[in-house]
Amino acid sequence: MSENGQNGTSTIEIEGRTLAFEAGETVLEVAQRNGIEIPTLCHDPRLDPAGACRTCLVEIDGWRRLAPACATKANAGMKIASENARIDRHRRSLLALYMTDHPSDRETSERGAPDQLLDMVEQYDAPSDWGWLETLRSDRPDDANPYIHFNPDTCIVCARCTRYCDEVEGVSAITLAGRGSQTTISTVDRLGLLDTTCEMCGGCIDVCPTGAMGEKTPLMRGDKPERELTKVRSTCNFCGVGCQLDLNVDPDGNDGKGRVVKVTSPPTGTTTNDGNLCVKGRFAYDFINHEERLTTPLIRNAAGEFEAASWDEALRVAAQGLMGVRDRHGADALAFVSSSRCTMEENYLVQKLSRAVFRTNNVHQCAAT
Ligand code: SF4
Ligand code: SF4
Ligand code: FES
Repeated sequence: MSENGQNGTSTIEIEGRTLAFEAGETVLEVAQRNGIEIPTLCHDPRLDPAGACRTCLVEIDGWRRLAPACATKANAGMKIASENARIDRHRRSLLALYMTDHPSDRETSERGAPDQLLDMVEQYDAPSDWGWLETLRSDRPDDANPYIHFNPDTCIVCARCTRYCDEVEGVSAITLAGRGSQTTISTVDRLGLLDTTCEMCGGCIDVCPTGAMGEKTPLMRGDKPERELTKVRSTCNFCGVGCQLDLNVDPDGNDGKGRVVKVTSPPTGTTTNDGNLCVKGRFAYDFINHEERLTTPLIRNAAGEFEAASWDEALRVAAQGLMGVRDRHGADALAFVSSSRCTMEENYLVQKLSRAVFRTNNVHQCAAT
C-alpha cells in the first residue's frame, strides 16, 4: 500500500481524468491544481475548510450524498464527477435559494467590491423566480469605526470573514451570532469594532465574496464600484516588508490625472504577503492625493522661502551642501540616516553614498536600533 492510498494507488479520478494527489489534499485542491473548475464561495486556501456555502458539491461514486469538494480529503481510488445533471440541478436550486433574500441588481449589491454570487447565478443560469423575503440578518448601525461597513442584505453567512479574523489575524473580533435565518456577523455585545480587539487589518473586507463587508470611505464618498476601477500593482511604502498591494484607480478622478479610490490585496498565493495587509497598507492611502503633499522638489532661496525646482537642480544643491560640510569640517562631520520604509536596494545605495562617495562610516538605518 502506498503512503497515500488504500488500494495501492495515490490517484483519484475527476471527470474521467486520473490525477495524483498528496496526502492531506482535498478534492478541490486536486481539481484546482489540474485546471478543473469547481465553483466556491466560502473557500479560502488560507483557512480551514468550513463547507458552509455548498456551491462546491461534487458526486463521488458510492457516496449517497453530494460532498463538498473543499472539505473532502482525496482518498485513493475515488471517482468524482464535478459536472452532471444532478450537480447542476442542485447548484441551480442552491443559488436560487440564496437569491431569495439577496439583491439581484448589481447597482444595489455591487456599490463596492464585485459580488461573486451574482456572477455565479449568471454563469449557471439559476432560476430567479423563487420569491423574495426581507433578510432577517441584522446590522450594527451604531458601529462608528471609520473603515469597515457591514451590509447584512448581501451577506451569505459563509463565515470567511470570521474565520479569517480568527485563523489568520488571531483576533476573533467578529463572530457569527444568532440562529437560523437570523444568523449574522456581529461582535461581543454588538460593540462597535473600535471597542473590540479588531486591528483594522481589513482582511474581512478582502475575503468577503459578495462585498457585504466593505470599505466605508469609498461607499460614503459615492465612489465608482470596484469593477469600474483600474488595478495598479504597487509596493506598500509604510515599512520595509514590501507587501504587494493593488491601487484601485479611478482614471477620471483628480481632473483626469487619476485618483486612488481604495487599496485591495492581490489574490492569495500570488505575492509574498499572500493576500494579507495591515491597517496602514490597506487604509492609509489618502496621502497620495493630499493637497499638502509635495509633488516637486523645493529649494530655499536667499530670502529663506521655498521655490519649486527640478530634480537636477535640487540634487545639485544638496550635493554642494554636503560637499561644503565635508570640505570645511571633514567627512566625519557628515552622517547619513536611512529608513526602513526604503527598499533594501535604496538602503544599500545610501551606505554606498556614505562610505564610497563621502568616505565616512557615519551611516545608520532606523531598523538597526
Ligand atoms: S479588520 Fe481584521 S481584525 Fe478587524 S474584524 Fe476584520 S479581520 Fe478581524
Ligand atoms: S460578511 Fe461576507 S465573508 Fe462574512 S459571512 Fe457575510 S458574505 Fe461571508
Ligand atoms: S466552497 Fe465548499 S462548501 Fe463553500
